[in-house]
Amino acid sequence: METTPPLPMPRIGDPAPPFTAATTQGTINFPADYAGSWVILFSHPADFTPVCTSEFMTFASMEKQFEEANCKLVGLSVDGLYSHIAWLRTIKEKIEYRGMKNVEVRFPLIEDITMEVAKRYGMIQPGESSTKAVRAVFFIDPKGIIRAIIYYPLSLGRNFDELYRVLIALQTADAFSVATPADWRPGDDVIVPPPGSCGTAQERMESKDITCYDWFFCTKPLDKGTVMKTVLKKK
Ligand code: BEZ
Repeated sequence: METTPPLPMPRIGDPAPPFTAATTQGTINFPADYAGSWVILFSHPADFTPVCTSEFMTFASMEKQFEEANCKLVGLSVDGLYSHIAWLRTIKEKIEYRGMKNVEVRFPLIEDITMEVAKRYGMIQPGESSTKAVRAVFFIDPKGIIRAIIYYPLSLGRNFDELYRVLIALQTADAFSVATPADWRPGDDVIVPPPGSCGTAQERMESKDITCYDWFFCTKPLDKGTVMKTVLKKK
């Protein structure tokens, strides 16, 4: 019997593969329901596990911060809906962790017991586990294009400040046509795109507003207020 080979994992620059799924907030059509917003689609290995619980409490506590940057959150695991509901209730009613308590997870959590979505997004990585999704994070832009992908193994809880930093850096690159250097945070200098001609290279080397470390590596200031004002009002 012939089997259809699996579709390749989506990559940066690809349109987010579409799907319809049941979630803790009702059915969603992804990514169509999120047109005009950034969205972070992320997977976790299993409900009622400690690392995932710490992650959900952290992400839910930061939801407003992401919302203000025009970014919605959507979670996924291969557990069923009743497990999701029971786990989110337990988190709200019983778990107090690092000053967080009474945490309500308001963003949708997808049930994916068939693993259809997890497999389509390359979240099942059999070398790590063939029964649980790894900790995948897809940053999808308002046009439904995948802009960044980060994968973590089962044992490693994500750094949510870093996920926020990635979101703001992507939005900054789009809004100001710049790139962001290593460890960039809003307020740090940004990288001016490479020169397209010898004339531009020379002009930049001589410009007072731009710092050049060499002709191909130039930065300019971009203040935090300007970045955050742009990011936070882009709805
Ligand atoms: C956890 O979230 O604690 C976890 C889940 C699956 C494997 C290992 C750890």
